Amino acid sequence: MPDLFSDQRPEAQWHGKDILHLPNAFDADASLRALKAVFDVSPLRHMKTPGGQQMSAAMTSAGALGWISDSQGYRYSPIDPLTGYAWPDIPPVLLATAQAAARRYGRAAFAPDACLINRYAPGARLTAHQDRDEQDVSIPVVSLSFGASARFRIGGQDRADPMETIILEHGDALVFGRSKRLAYHAVMPMKPGAHPALGPDRIVCTFRVAG
Ligand code: SIN
Ligand code: FE2
Repeated sequence: MPDLFSDQRPEAQWHGKDILHLPNAFDADASLRALKAVFDVSPLRHMKTPGGQQMSAAMTSAGALGWISDSQGYRYSPIDPLTGYAWPDIPPVLLATAQAAARRYGRAAFAPDACLINRYAPGARLTAHQDRDEQDVSIPVVSLSFGASARFRIGGQDRADPMETIILEHGDALVFGRSKRLAYHAVMPMKPGAHPALGPDRIVCTFRVAG
């Protein structure tokens, strides 16, 4: 089991009542090995937005449902369109970490069926969006970060609401739910940086109950 209760771990940081940041919450190196096995089955790829623009983060998924984007729109699919097969299972080590983070948030039962994985190279970003392709938005989203640090921005349910910045580093977990479940969020363009685990890149896994 990942140790979310170790004494060396910096304190959990609540941003308001509905965003929980858990710095250095898990053994990211072991989890990265499991992620590489996912990429062998369903490789990271650059998808296109419905408008035809290439997304700057490379993406793939694990779990019963994967998130895809193409000319027909954004949606979850049980089949990886690149391989024609089901997505790989969510690695147990990652699932256990995400569930432990959800528990800390107050969500005892968290059974994600989708793990969306993004890889950001230097300069890559994620523009402000809501995670709203999931059926039940009473369930929080959990993210696990790897590699280079990111400036994650999160605001409110209106695009114009002010945003705050949370720095997400290798081994950090983040949970957003309740009043923040449909909050607009973004990742600022990645600065050139380096982390021993992934060089200049960052990987994030976001766990959702989609179906
Ligand atoms: C996402 O919003 O899907 C990913 C967020 C992140 O990169 O931390
Ligand atoms: Fe998102």
